[in-house]
Amino acid sequence: MTTMLTVEKLSKIFTLHQQGGVRIKALTDVSLELSAGECLALAGPSGAGKSTLLRCLYGNYLPSGGKISLRHLSEILDLSAASPQKIMEVRRYSLGYVSQFLRVIPRVSALDIVAEPLLETGAETAEARQAARELLNRLNIPPRLWALPPATFSGGEQQRINLARGFIRLRPVMLLDEPTASLDRANRKVVRDLIYEAKESGSALIGIFHDDEMRSLVADRQFQMAPPNGREKAE
Ligand SMILES: Nc1ncnc2c1ncn2[C@@H]1O[C@H](COP(=O)(O)OP(=O)(O)OP(=O)(O)O)[C@@H](O)[C@H]1O
Ligand SMILES: [Mg+2]
Repeated sequence: MTTMLTVEKLSKIFTLHQQGGVRIKALTDVSLELSAGECLALAGPSGAGKSTLLRCLYGNYLPSGGKISLRHLSEILDLSAASPQKIMEVRRYSLGYVSQFLRVIPRVSALDIVAEPLLETGAETAEARQAARELLNRLNIPPRLWALPPATFSGGEQQRINLARGFIRLRPVMLLDEPTASLDRANRKVVRDLIYEAKESGSALIGIFHDDEMRSLVADRQFQMAPPNGREKAE
């Protein structure tokens, strides 16, 4: 199987300047590999650094040490050293991220928020909107909501808009941070199917799944993250 992502001895230390320079070791020497078509579940207690790891992989946080190598177009890219422009390109083509909460863009309709990733890579508007409608339907978002901005939607509705936006264009590596946390049983099933379909099409997924049943259904492997190892004062 093709290796899509390699993480070597990744660490992330947060320094809280407002708190007298307290340092929080969120990640220490994390190493893992991810192949096309598999789903890896990040496990570990609250505070173990699961979300921090996904944010480092998505290029939101700069690692304090270690290396992230991602297969991008025809190269292997060192993501920890990539420029912001390169990271934008990587997100467009190679890396998808579904966070737990929707970042609402004022005045943009749910339909357009979902269609946007397709438009970004050159799809026609009509075609992108059609694909968005199909996915919103699958995720049981009633058509009366499609033209509205999701700011006033319920937590579960916002999460499904986020999922639709993430899954409308499958990218080779997909990062999922608790994608089913606010969903009911029927919608969790839809997400399970979306993950199955992504794996089948060759995407590699890393996910945090708070729900054991979901995790055992979709994950091929687990990566155990160590419990938090304390805070220390900077010298
Ligand atoms: N932006 C930040 N600034 C400072 N500290 C942070 C930041 N993000 C995370 N941390 C700290 O890093 C540690 C790991 O947090 P993280 O959110 O990655 O945990 P998690 O495993 O996702 O937990 P949960 O299961 O509760 O979501 C925590 O101690 C947290 O306080
Ligand atoms: Mg988290």
